[in-house]
Amino acid sequence: MQKIAVIGAGYVGLVTAAALAETGNKVLCVDSDTEKIRKLKNGAIPIYEPGLEKIILKNKNLKRLLFSTNIKEATVSAQIIFICVGTPSRHDGSADLSAVQKVAQEIARNMKEYKVIVEKSTVPAETGEKIKHTIEMNNPGGVAFDVVSNPEFLREGSAMHDAFHPDRIVIGVESERAEKIMRQLYKPFKAPIVATNINTAELIKHACNSFLATKISFINAISNICERVNADVEKVALAMGLDTRIGKEFLQAGIGFGGSCFPKDVDAFIYLAAQKGYDFELLKAARKINQERKDVLLKKIEEALWIIKDKTIGVLGLSFKPDTDDIRSSVAIDIIKLLLYAGAKVKAYDPKAMEKARSQLKGVIFCANPYEVARKSDCVAILTEWQEFRELDLKKIKKLLRQPVIIDGRNMFEPQQMHAMGFVYKSIGRRRK
Ligand code: UDX
Repeated sequence: MQKIAVIGAGYVGLVTAAALAETGNKVLCVDSDTEKIRKLKNGAIPIYEPGLEKIILKNKNLKRLLFSTNIKEATVSAQIIFICVGTPSRHDGSADLSAVQKVAQEIARNMKEYKVIVEKSTVPAETGEKIKHTIEMNNPGGVAFDVVSNPEFLREGSAMHDAFHPDRIVIGVESERAEKIMRQLYKPFKAPIVATNINTAELIKHACNSFLATKISFINAISNICERVNADVEKVALAMGLDTRIGKEFLQAGIGFGGSCFPKDVDAFIYLAAQKGYDFELLKAARKINQERKDVLLKKIEEALWIIKDKTIGVLGLSFKPDTDDIRSSVAIDIIKLLLYAGAKVKAYDPKAMEKARSQLKGVIFCANPYEVARKSDCVAILTEWQEFRELDLKKIKKLLRQPVIIDGRNMFEPQQMHAMGFVYKSIGRRRK
């Protein structure tokens, strides 16, 4: 059993705190947002993440997981302190590390004995060195400490599964003492551990996310060519993925990647490379392809409806991917904004994300279900591949629509079947009728 503090009760912080409490540690999770902590103390979980609530409530009842707004208390009581605060993008693409620095300063001022300070927030290479320097500057007593980089690879929607069954655990560590503590902490997770220096660990995180983002842009570029030569991107992806060197994951063509990680991390990695004198053209191209995905979808709507102005467009899906209520950098939200700008009336439905989307999408009519969305709309555009949409009564949708048009940005249905049902059905990178 270790005494742990987790600073930052966002996605990464809450999942980390829950997983470490579940494996028997005593965890104090801290956030400066008093309202969030008040809710968590009362058992209300601020995000929707399958399985998270159950584990938080269980460990809260066992008194292994506590919540606080007080970094001082956390620093004094814990030996291992995880920094899980946000690192948002600045306008130039670089990561805003001010929250990380503030937390490091507060930890330093309250350290009375040896601590392991673990950066889990996604940060550019060389941040660990800056954290170390910050702590030294703010810790006049010269208390011993180690900084560790321990990047997180969890995916929203399957974060709990990813936390308990990681493909690997990366530990950037530069002292034997800290390495021993971290290895011990992660023993119950039974995953291969890659131990390396701090800069390498930080780089691994950016390299992984950038690679996956590039893989998505690659298949999206292939889908553009498929559309031009009447080929089928789903079959291309299937055959490519069966090659074990390529692998089948992250080859789903669509409207592009969004979310709180990929767009931000791609920007930050391009920025870091440029700062160090390297023009990361490959990654810039992946970003450009991704930015163009919105136009690809809009063009499909235009092809079907001719003029967008004054048309009613029904949108299914607002979150950046299924099984989450997260709309950060959601391509669906961007597309809706473009549709509104073009003068369309938009009706929308999402199983989980409507509450969060409401404040961002003024003028959109939010509906109670997909059928309400379809009623008297000129087309339905599917922007997030929720399982619920696969089970739609398509005959009913067709009756409710003004025109039987479905624009499928996530390739959820079979074109032949849709055409046979009488739909004008446009999807991504698939063969024409
Ligand atoms: C990602 C990484 O997967 C995770 O390891 C990291 O820690 C955080 O960033 P996440 O943002 O939760 O996780 O979602 P992910 O499932 O990776 O999807 C990201 C985006 O890519 C989504 O918008 C999704 O729709 C899109 N995507 C994913 C595709 O368009 N095609 C694919 O084949 C896969």
